[in-house]
Amino acid sequence: MTITVIGSGKVGASAALNCGLRELDRDILLLDIVQGLPQGEAMDINHQLSERGTDAIARGSNNYEEMRGSDYVVLVAGVGRKPGMTRMDLLKINAGIVKDVASKIASYAKDATVIVVTNPLDPMTYLALKTIGAQKSKVMGMGGMLDLSRFKSFIQDATGLSRDSIQAMVISEHGENMLPLTRFSSVGGIPLHDFVSKEKASELFEKTRKVAAEVIALKGATVYAPGNAVATMIESVVKDKKLVIPVSAYLQGEYGVSDICIGVPSVIGAGGIERIIELKLDSSEQDVFNKGVASVKEAMKALPT
Ligand code: LAC
Repeated sequence: MTITVIGSGKVGASAALNCGLRELDRDILLLDIVQGLPQGEAMDINHQLSERGTDAIARGSNNYEEMRGSDYVVLVAGVGRKPGMTRMDLLKINAGIVKDVASKIASYAKDATVIVVTNPLDPMTYLALKTIGAQKSKVMGMGGMLDLSRFKSFIQDATGLSRDSIQAMVISEHGENMLPLTRFSSVGGIPLHDFVSKEKASELFEKTRKVAAEVIALKGATVYAPGNAVATMIESVVKDKKLVIPVSAYLQGEYGVSDICIGVPSVIGAGGIERIIELKLDSSEQDVFNKGVASVKEAMKALPT
C-alpha cells in the first residue's frame, strides 16, 4: 500500500508526517515539481519517525510515475493564500495545477482514494473528480474537518471544558460561507446551547470563519491543523473507521443540489465517502448553506473544461 502526497510544501509535509506518526501506511511518497524538496522533506520526516520507532517510511521524488498503484493520494499541489486573499482568489492559478496533477492521478492511480486540499477547496475537489473520472465516493475535499478543528478550539476557549468532550460540525463551503452548526455541536453529548448563549455561539461561528486568514497574516500559512485533518480523513479510510465527518463531497440531489462538491456530513470508511448524511437545516442554516452553494457554483463557471 502507498500514501502519495502530491505537493511537498508545508501542508503536504505536515500531512505526510501526520500519516507517518499514525502509521497509516508503511510507504509514504512525497511528490513535487521542485527538485530536492520532496526528497529533503522525506529525509527530515524519516528522522522523526525513526526516533519514534514508527515503521512508516517516507520517500521523496520528482517523478510522478512513482505514484503508480497508490491506494491513497493527497492532492495539495498549488499556491497558498497570501495575507488579505480569499481562497477563491486562488482559483485561476490553482485550477491549471489541479487539472494537470489530477490527469497524472488518472494515469497512475485511477483507483486511489483522493483527498483534495488545494484551494478553493470545493471547486478544486469537483475539478479533480471530473478530471480523474473517479467514482464520486473516491474523491473528497478536506475543508470542514479543518474548520471544525478550529470551531472546537473556540468552544474550548469559551467553555473551559475538555476538547475530548467536544463534538462539532461545520459544513457548506470551505470559505466565506462555511456553516459551523452550533445546533449539531455538543459537549459530552449535551447540546452546545446548554453551555453558551446563542449570541456567544454566533461569536464562535464568526471566529471560526475568519481565523485561517488571521493565522496566515501572522505566520504566512496554516500548516499543522490542515496536515492533521488530512491524516484523520485518511485514517478513517485506511482503518474503515466510518467516522462521521464533514468532507467536500459530490452531491446528486442531497440537500437539494446536484453536480457540485461542497461540505456535508459523511460516513468515511474503506469505500471512501460511504454515505452522505442529510441534516434537517433550519431556515437560517439553510440560508448560509445556499450562499455556499451559490459561491461554489459561481466559481465553477471559471473552471477549465
Ligand atoms: C485553511 C486552508 C487550508 O483553512 O484553506 O487553513
